[in-house]
Amino acid sequence: MTYNIALIKGDGIGPEITAAAVRVLGLIGKKYGHDFNFHEAAAGGRAIDEHGIPLPPQTIDICKKSDAVLLGAVGGPKWDTLPGHLRPERALLGLRKELGLFANLRPAALYPSLSAACPLRADIAAAGIDMVIVRELTGGMYYGDRGRRMSEGGEEAYDTECYSASEIERIGRTAFELASKRQNRLVSIDKANVLESSRLWREVIHALSAQYPQVELTDMLVDNAAMQLIRNPAQFDVIVTGNMFGDILSDEASMLTGSIGLLPSASVGAGRGGLFEPIHGSAPDIAGQNKANPIATILSAAMMLRYAFGLDREAGAVEDAVSGVLLEGARTADILGAGSGPALTTDAMTDAILAKI
Ligand code: IPM
Ligand code: MN
Repeated sequence: MTYNIALIKGDGIGPEITAAAVRVLGLIGKKYGHDFNFHEAAAGGRAIDEHGIPLPPQTIDICKKSDAVLLGAVGGPKWDTLPGHLRPERALLGLRKELGLFANLRPAALYPSLSAACPLRADIAAAGIDMVIVRELTGGMYYGDRGRRMSEGGEEAYDTECYSASEIERIGRTAFELASKRQNRLVSIDKANVLESSRLWREVIHALSAQYPQVELTDMLVDNAAMQLIRNPAQFDVIVTGNMFGDILSDEASMLTGSIGLLPSASVGAGRGGLFEPIHGSAPDIAGQNKANPIATILSAAMMLRYAFGLDREAGAVEDAVSGVLLEGARTADILGAGSGPALTTDAMTDAILAKI
């Protein structure tokens, strides 16, 4: 089969980590008889430099015509002072909306071989960490009405959290379906003791749960959830939550696994395809130094194989290679334990994974 992949390298470490994933996909294609064609498109800081805007129409076009999008990371200090609508991050928000990618799947699992990198007490880590955060991605405060205006207290600024029942229902369905394929446990996270949008969230999720009697549904307030992730992460199987809470909690969950440099994500909509990217940012401090951990991006490519192309065996081969090299002690700087060393470069870690495949 031939697959067309839109490739957005992005800024900072983006070009290095996407190069790693492209090498891995190249080998998978060779081994299993697929052609992966890459179509490069600019977004984020690079697009601002080249086209004056973070998400040029030709990029949206290339993404819409492709079978999936692979993205590195966007942003950096160079563009930090631009007004909100011209910031590199805007490209991500625009792509998510344009491509209808309402569901963001963020798995966070602790590899037994990396338990030393988990910042939690050993007995807590030993209980295991293996969860998927299902984050709503095209609604909530990220897309709500916002602006500035004059008030009695001077200038004021506002952002609005707004969710419709249909938006909640479709993300809820994604989460219940996923929980049905895992441990049948779903925690819905909101702030229903304060926010009206959360009260509607809870009602809709509860109504939907009648269609999934096998899934045990629990509500949790977001502040408590932030605590429970540290206190007892083993209790979580699938989490479903809104855009803003999901953004924050997924960074917290990532750290439990040792490094944000390990965690992939898949953003999917109603059809096939989707956008696949690491959950971390562009790390400008280590850009161009061949130091970044490529694993989050390589695992994002694996998610693309599985979710966009239905290539489970190929995805499994990539995931097994990653756990294999970690088991053998391969470590980039971000996951280097005390006493072990020297850290592998981005290229060397990628070589090790290629050799395992
Ligand atoms: C993420 C990022 C983005 C988000 C930013 C860069 C817009 O933090 O994908 O989690 O907040 O969604
Ligand atoms: Mn984030």
